[in-house]
Amino acid sequence: MNEASNPKIYPPSNDFVAKAHVGAETYETMYKASIEDPESFWGEQAKTRLDWIESFTKVKDADFTLGKVKIKWFEDGVLNVAYNCIDRHLEERGDQTAIIFEPDEPGDGAQHITYRELHEKVCRFANVLLAQGVMRGDRVVIYLPMIPEAAYAMLACARIGAIHSVVFAGFSPDALANRINDCQAKVVITADTAPRGGRRTALKSNTDAALLHCSDKVRCLVVKHTGDQTTWIQDRDVDVKAMMAEVAPDCPIRPMGAEDPLFILYTSGSTGKPKGVVHSSGGYLLYAAMTQELTFDYHDGDVFWCGADVGWVTGHTYIIYGPLANGATTLMFEGVPTYPDASRFWQVIEKHKVNQFYTAPTAIRALMGQGTKFVEGSDLSSLKVLGTVGEPINPEAWNWYNDNVGKGKLPIVDTWWQTETGGHMITPLPGATATKPGSATKPFFGVQPVVLDATSGKEIEETQAEGVLAIKQSWPGQMRTVWGDHERFEKTYFSDYKGYYFAGDGCRRDADGYYWITGRVDDVINVSGHRMGTAEVESALVAHAKVAEAAVVGYPHEVKGQGIYAYVTLMNDVEPSDELRKELEGWVRNEIGPIAKPDLIQWAPGLPKTRSGKIMRRILRKIAENDYGALGDTSTLADPSVVDELIENRMNK
Ligand code: WTA
Repeated sequence: MNEASNPKIYPPSNDFVAKAHVGAETYETMYKASIEDPESFWGEQAKTRLDWIESFTKVKDADFTLGKVKIKWFEDGVLNVAYNCIDRHLEERGDQTAIIFEPDEPGDGAQHITYRELHEKVCRFANVLLAQGVMRGDRVVIYLPMIPEAAYAMLACARIGAIHSVVFAGFSPDALANRINDCQAKVVITADTAPRGGRRTALKSNTDAALLHCSDKVRCLVVKHTGDQTTWIQDRDVDVKAMMAEVAPDCPIRPMGAEDPLFILYTSGSTGKPKGVVHSSGGYLLYAAMTQELTFDYHDGDVFWCGADVGWVTGHTYIIYGPLANGATTLMFEGVPTYPDASRFWQVIEKHKVNQFYTAPTAIRALMGQGTKFVEGSDLSSLKVLGTVGEPINPEAWNWYNDNVGKGKLPIVDTWWQTETGGHMITPLPGATATKPGSATKPFFGVQPVVLDATSGKEIEETQAEGVLAIKQSWPGQMRTVWGDHERFEKTYFSDYKGYYFAGDGCRRDADGYYWITGRVDDVINVSGHRMGTAEVESALVAHAKVAEAAVVGYPHEVKGQGIYAYVTLMNDVEPSDELRKELEGWVRNEIGPIAKPDLIQWAPGLPKTRSGKIMRRILRKIAENDYGALGDTSTLADPSVVDELIENRMNK
């Protein structure tokens, strides 16, 4: 999508290659070995990278056949994820900083939490959970901002074998309630309020509202973070910090099977409600650790900063599990890139001498729009590798990142992956891969991408290919199932193209075998790097009493990548107005969260439908993209005249 006819190629510098974990030749040899003999390759990696309580005898047992999809790695191995992320480092690096916490207000001062301190906090947090009756296999929902307690809570669950499900703190009470109910959580952990960009979100009162729709057995653990006043419900609410001070500072680890779920993370698809993506303990952790080290060329002593939120998979894998499994120093940032001003990211890099920095193209575009003066004032000389994730990066943003942040000297890794994949799938390795701006380049070890013809489903054998992206073989970080609905797992990922894991993305492979992701081919849109099912926004809209019908599509948006364009048909007796537009925006915000608020709402007296009543989204997408010249065949529409009306009144002129 972003390739000029002759893209510029950026090879790694000789200096970089000399110190890198993986160079071009090693990549080729290791990749070959990982595909030809995955059992030996992954068996070896799992033994060297993780500590096992009982070693595994079986490496892999995977089947992508519809009807019997099964994904298992190291299944008879026994380990504990928290032990691997904390305890095993204590002897050598007990006094090393594990987590740097940079708060929303720069003046509040950062915290440096050593591995020894992390151990104590996690043990205490685990004891609080145990005291609430949380047992192995129980679900714990974590609705926290980017504060160290989020890490403590996740690792405490891992320590005692409970399954966490982090819900992004920007989600509404309804979205929170749905997730608590879907996984039947025993406990929800929240904070009083969450400062972000100088404003505060009332997380506790959101949780109170959510819990009105949940079983009254759900306990609410509250981290008093800001000290803001909140309501308090006796016998249900627990003051986490007070209790942590009372319980024992040590807590034994619970030995867990490699295939025991570590966490559930809800993500949007093209249909229905969000799915609970289930990740494993052994395979996931191995994949997180290995990709964090190799994709970012992380070396002992480096300071690693992944700017995502722990509410998303990127935060799970690259703020918490990957770096900590590797004994790294990982930075957790509570704030936003533009507060107090657009120099904040660069100030944080200077202050903590960050070596690897990982963010989303949308953040780069937002900062790019503020001009270069904000980046020029900071000393960025500590940086060694830059990364991006979440959406294809457009050349302008890539060049800006390269020129102003990388000063033209740093490798940029454009990492393609998904909540479902657990870690990087297609990505450059900075010492091995010459990059082309806009391409995620080559597969990671063990990953076998294929390009399928979208219609026939046949693998395109030629190197140069265009179609949909699928994966042929299992890898350890792969999701195992959809929580409580294995059939939905099979149907979503393995039924469109038989025998493959279908990722939902379109892609192109160039003559050098480089992959270029062209975006989703389903009804999922990518708004500021956040994945959203258009069906979710539609069902929120039609839940409003004045709305008869709604269709939602994405359209190109300068900063967000894609914006949300909603076509709304009102009930018969309702008049459209700007007030109503605002009301609907606010409604969707409340139903799902601020990230789902439509950018453009068009009143649509009629929607283009086939004679069987199916909405023709292709047409709506074209109109939203202001590209209605090429609408294609509209003769199958029940009433073709609605199209002219929609074009006439389109919002994106
Ligand atoms: C998109 C985020 C192009 C893609 C880790 C994928 C990307 C979806 C890239 C997953 C990239 C992610 N280039 N597109 N480097 N990275 N995507 O589950 O459409 O929030 O399917 O995981 O983001 O989003 P998710």
